[in-house]
Amino acid sequence: MSIPQKTREYRLPKVDGFHNLTLTEAPLPKLKSTEVLLKVHAVSLQYRDLIVAKGTYPLGQKENPVPGSDMAGEIIAIGEDVKGWKVGERVSPNFAVDHVFGDPTAEIKATGLGAPIDGVLTEYKIVPAHSLVRIPEHLSYEEASTLPCAALTAYNALLGGNPVLKGGDFVLVQGTGGVSIFGLQIAVASGATVIATSSSDKKLETAKKLGAKYVINYKKTPNWEEEVLKITNGRGVDHVLEVGGPGTILKSVEAVRYAGNVAVIGFVAGQADTSQLPLLVLGKAINMRGVLIGSRQQFEEMNRLIEAVKLKPVVDKVFNFEHARDAYEYQDSQQHVGKVVIKVSKD
Ligand SMILES: NC(=O)c1ccc[n+]([C@@H]2O[C@H](COP(=O)([O-])OP(=O)(O)OC[C@H]3O[C@@H](n4cnc5c(N)ncnc54)[C@H](OP(=O)(O)O)[C@@H]3O)[C@@H](O)[C@H]2O)c1
Repeated sequence: MSIPQKTREYRLPKVDGFHNLTLTEAPLPKLKSTEVLLKVHAVSLQYRDLIVAKGTYPLGQKENPVPGSDMAGEIIAIGEDVKGWKVGERVSPNFAVDHVFGDPTAEIKATGLGAPIDGVLTEYKIVPAHSLVRIPEHLSYEEASTLPCAALTAYNALLGGNPVLKGGDFVLVQGTGGVSIFGLQIAVASGATVIATSSSDKKLETAKKLGAKYVINYKKTPNWEEEVLKITNGRGVDHVLEVGGPGTILKSVEAVRYAGNVAVIGFVAGQADTSQLPLLVLGKAINMRGVLIGSRQQFEEMNRLIEAVKLKPVVDKVFNFEHARDAYEYQDSQQHVGKVVIKVSKD
């Protein structure tokens, strides 16, 4: 393949909605000796992409970014100092390209694709070689593009902290979006019993097919934390993947067992009064841990699990590159279960 000199890429010159997504053409910079050039095959969307486009992402974004954090593609050129990679290998860069191992730092957080630095909604992308992981062999590019943010966040929440998930633990996942569906699948793959909530009975049927043993419709059962306590004979769950934020967090601490674990991940459920939170947390000796995606090392460990159990990501719908805005609208409509993907390359 001849090395391209240009790339078609989306940018967000303004950030008050998806209508700002603008497809442009830009020259590719010269490859540094420690970098690789990737042909982007597929990109998956996150809730984060929606709020970056709306200008409400709370963790900071650059002016006029190329959006998108999660991609799968192939290496088409390699810097002269890069070792251990070949042209043609199927790879993804880690979400924060400099988060190689260990804890995040302010400097690492500032390397998150698609907000503080330009992202991956582009035909070709240059990334540092130290950000790369190999794609599990049984996954297509569309499937593999769902792993860097949603899957790694769920993996880190359940298996990246201390204490980690043990077989036999109860895990609560909220809603059927990207992080929660991966949380369900990773928990089941690790021998846990999963309780899933959703606004929709139809989506809960899908959650059951994926291995959730108990399901609760949080619209029909607004006091779902009481239902969780009933299911667990009053004990509560061992782990909660808390994606709702202020709107759900008090219920999550009611639903978790004494000294259980609440991974603080998201804020899809809107605002609410959380002034009781410190008292509830200390009163049950709960472990709360903020999760910021994960490191490349955790991504590699997660891929070992994905390969071992042949875990298949749930891809709800695939859109063409030219229809990226439709993909954003669909993700925003919350009709999806799992992941929404944009197919970037035609082959
Ligand atoms: N900290 C991190 O590292 C990290 C990483 C990834 C994502 N996040 C955050 O995690 C959250 C989820 O991200 P995502 O990309 O997985 O989102 P997503 O795929 O867009 O998921 C949205 C889903 O959340 C569910 N939901 C909405 N309101 C809810 C409520 N009140 N209670 C329970 N579930 C509700 C809905 O599912 P149902 O229709 O089934 O109810 C909805 O479809 C976001 O806030 C995101 O910013 C954080």
